[in-house]
Amino acid sequence: MLKQCLFSPTSLKTAILAALVGYCMPAMGKEGMWLPPTLKNRENDMKKMGLQIPVSQLYNEDGTGLNNAVVLFGKGCTGEVISSRGLVLTNHHCGYGTVQGLSSKENDYFAAGFWAKKDEEELPCPGLTVTFVRKMENVTDKIVTGLADTMNEATRQQLVEVRIKNLEKGYKTATGMDAMIKPYFNGNQYWVILTETFNDIRLVGFPPNGIGSFGGDTDNWMWPRHTGDFSMFRIYAGKGNKPAAYAKDNKPYQTKQFFTINPNGYREGDFTMVYGFPGTTMEYISSYQLNQVYSILDPIRIESRTQRLNAWTKHMQASRDVFLKYTSKRAGIANGWKKWQGEVRGLRINNVVGKKQDYEAYFQGLASQDQNLPYADDVLANMAAKSNAVNDALKADEYIKEAVLGIELIQNAAVLDKMLQVLRAKNIANKNDSLMKLAKGLEGMYKNYDVATDKEVFEVLMPLFMQKNTGYIPTAFSNQLRERGNNYNAWSSYAFSSIAANQEKLKSFAETATAADSNRLIGDPAWQLYNGISKMRQEKITPYVSRYYSDMAYLNRLYMNAQMSLDKQKSFYPDANLTLRLTYGKVAGIDPDGAAGYSYQTNLNEAVKKHNPEVEEFNMPAKLMALHNERDFGKWSVGGSVPIAFIASNHTSGGNSGSPVLNAKGELIGTNFDRIWEGTMSDLYFDEKLCRNISVDIRYTLFIIEKFGGAGRLLKEMDIVKACD
Ligand code: ARG
Ligand code: GLU
Repeated sequence: MLKQCLFSPTSLKTAILAALVGYCMPAMGKEGMWLPPTLKNRENDMKKMGLQIPVSQLYNEDGTGLNNAVVLFGKGCTGEVISSRGLVLTNHHCGYGTVQGLSSKENDYFAAGFWAKKDEEELPCPGLTVTFVRKMENVTDKIVTGLADTMNEATRQQLVEVRIKNLEKGYKTATGMDAMIKPYFNGNQYWVILTETFNDIRLVGFPPNGIGSFGGDTDNWMWPRHTGDFSMFRIYAGKGNKPAAYAKDNKPYQTKQFFTINPNGYREGDFTMVYGFPGTTMEYISSYQLNQVYSILDPIRIESRTQRLNAWTKHMQASRDVFLKYTSKRAGIANGWKKWQGEVRGLRINNVVGKKQDYEAYFQGLASQDQNLPYADDVLANMAAKSNAVNDALKADEYIKEAVLGIELIQNAAVLDKMLQVLRAKNIANKNDSLMKLAKGLEGMYKNYDVATDKEVFEVLMPLFMQKNTGYIPTAFSNQLRERGNNYNAWSSYAFSSIAANQEKLKSFAETATAADSNRLIGDPAWQLYNGISKMRQEKITPYVSRYYSDMAYLNRLYMNAQMSLDKQKSFYPDANLTLRLTYGKVAGIDPDGAAGYSYQTNLNEAVKKHNPEVEEFNMPAKLMALHNERDFGKWSVGGSVPIAFIASNHTSGGNSGSPVLNAKGELIGTNFDRIWEGTMSDLYFDEKLCRNISVDIRYTLFIIEKFGGAGRLLKEMDIVKACD
C-alpha cells in the first residue's frame, strides 16, 4: 500500500535551511531507556529534540498505542509489526537459530536465503513466540508496603515473592492476559506487565548470509557497517484472532497497530527513537563492581572464548556439516566475546573506574549532609568490603562457566548424573523409561554436536582452567590428568571414551541399564569430571558467590534508593531488564579509528568494495552483485546506490536487536541491530560522545525484499509513505 503525500512547506523550509547551514548539529546523545507509561515526563525534552507526535501515540492504555506494534521476539530480541496481517520485521541474527532448525544440507537457507512467494509457503517455526505488551502499571505500593528498606534481604525477598505471585494471579484473572511483575531500580519499584504471546509464527523472508550477516564477526560491533541484518516472520492466530498453537488453518493475525514505513531517509541531526526490549544494563553500580567486570570477569570471558572459538572455527571451515551444526551457537559465543573486548577497551580509554570514583566522592558528600537515610553514609564502604572478599571465588566461578562448561562433553555429563539418581532411586517403577526420557532430552544437542570439534576444545580449555585456578582443582581432574602422564591429549581421549560423547552409546545404556550399572556411570570419565567440578563448586565457591550476590542485591537497592533521593541533578531511568523501553536520540555520525573517516550512513557501493569470494564473511551473493552492476535499484536508489545502514545516538543494549527505529512522527526508518565499538561499554557507562546504535536502513530492507528476494508481494501489504511530509 503506497500512501501519497506532498512535500510540506515546513519540511521544505527545514531542508533549505539545513542545506544552507550544512546541518552540522552537535551529536546530542541521550542516556536513558524509558518506561513507556512514564514518557509524559520526557515529552518536553523529546519535543525539544524534534518529536512531532504526542507521546500518547507511542503508548497509551486504550489499546491504540504503538506499543501494540512492538514485540518481544523469541526470548531475547525485538521485532516490529509492519502490516495489518501480522508481518513482523526483526534482525537476521534474531531469526538465525530458528532458521538453523529449518535448514538442512539440501535446504541450506543460510546459503540460498528464503522468500515465501505466497502465504502457503510460509514455514512454521516450532518453539518460536512473539509477545505483545498491552499495558504496564506501577504496583510498587502493593509490593513493598510495610517493608522497611533495611529489612533483612532474604526475608524481604520472600515476602516480595509471595506478594508478586498473588498479585500476578489477580491481574491474570481480572484481565485474561498474562501478567508478570518485575523489579525496577534494583528493587525500589515494581511494575506489572500485561502481555499476550503468540506461538504460531512462520518464516516469511530470510536473506542469505552473504547479505544478512555480511561482514560476520570481523565487522560485528563495528562502524562502518554493510550488513542487511533483517528477516521477516508472520504471526498466525486461531479463532477470534487470538493466540493458538500451530494449526494449518490458523490465519494471519489481524491488527490495526503496525508501523508506517517512511523510505524518505533522514539527515544528520534528525530525531530518532528506538522502541524495544533491552536486556541487561548496570549503569548505577559502584566502582568496585565495575572493577570486577573490567579486571576479572571480562578478561576471563575473552581469554576462554578466544580458545573455544579458534577450535570451532578451524573445524567449521573444514566441513560444511560442522559449519551448519555450530554456526548458530558460534554466533552467540562470538558476539559476547567481541563485545567484551570493546567494553574493556572503552572502560580503559575513558577511565570509567576513575569517573565512577569521582561520582562516589560526590555522592559521599551528599550522604554526609543528609539526615534521612542513615545507611547512605556507609553503603559504598560496605560494597567495597564485600567485593574485595569475593574476588577469588568469583574468578574461579567464571573460569568454570567459560572454560570447564565451555566443553560440551562436560555439560552433557549432567545427564549422566541425573541417570545415576534414577538408578539409585527407590521409588521409580520403570527406570528404563525415565532413562530414555533423559537421553531423549539431549537429542537436539547431539543434532548440533561434533565430537572432534569438542575434543579440541577440551584440549585447549582444560589446560587454561588447570593453570589459572590452582586453588580450585577438583581431585578427579588432577587424578585423571596425572594418570595419563600429564598429557592433555591422552586425557581428552580418555574423557571422550565417555558414553556422553556418543548418542548411540547413551541411548543403548538408557534402554538396558539396571541398578547394577550405577557403577558404569561412576566409572565414566566425563561423569567424574562433571561430578568433581559440581561438588567443588558447591563447597568452595557457590556459598560465597551466592551470599555475595544476595548482599549486593541488598546494598545496590539501598545505593540506588540513596542516589535517587539525594542526587537531584540526574534524571534516573531503570536499568534494562528485558521489558519494553523507549529511548531517543539523533542521527549522528562519528569518526571511528582506522581509515574509514567520518560518516553516519553507508551504502551498497561501499559494500561491493568489501566483497571477497574467498572469505565466507564477505562473500556477497552473485545476484546482489548483478543488481549493483546494472544499477538496478528500483525505487530504492539514492545518489546512485542504496543506503544500507546508519548510526544514531540512541541508548540501546542487547535485546534491542530488531527494534523499530522511528523518526519524529513515529514512522519506521530502520531496524536496530548493533552498537559501535567505541560505545559498547554503554551497558555500564553511557557516553553521549561515543555511543551509537547501528540500524539497517529500511530502504535496503525493501530493496532486498523486492529486487533480490523477488517478494514484492510483501511490499503491497505494507503502509509506505510516498513523499516527504
Ligand atoms: N552485535 C550484534 C548483537 O549484539 C549482532 C550480532 C550478530 N552478528 C554476529 N556476527 N554474531 O547482537
Ligand atoms: N545485536 C544486539 C542484540 O542482539 C543489539 C546490539 C546491542 O547490544 O546494542 O540485541
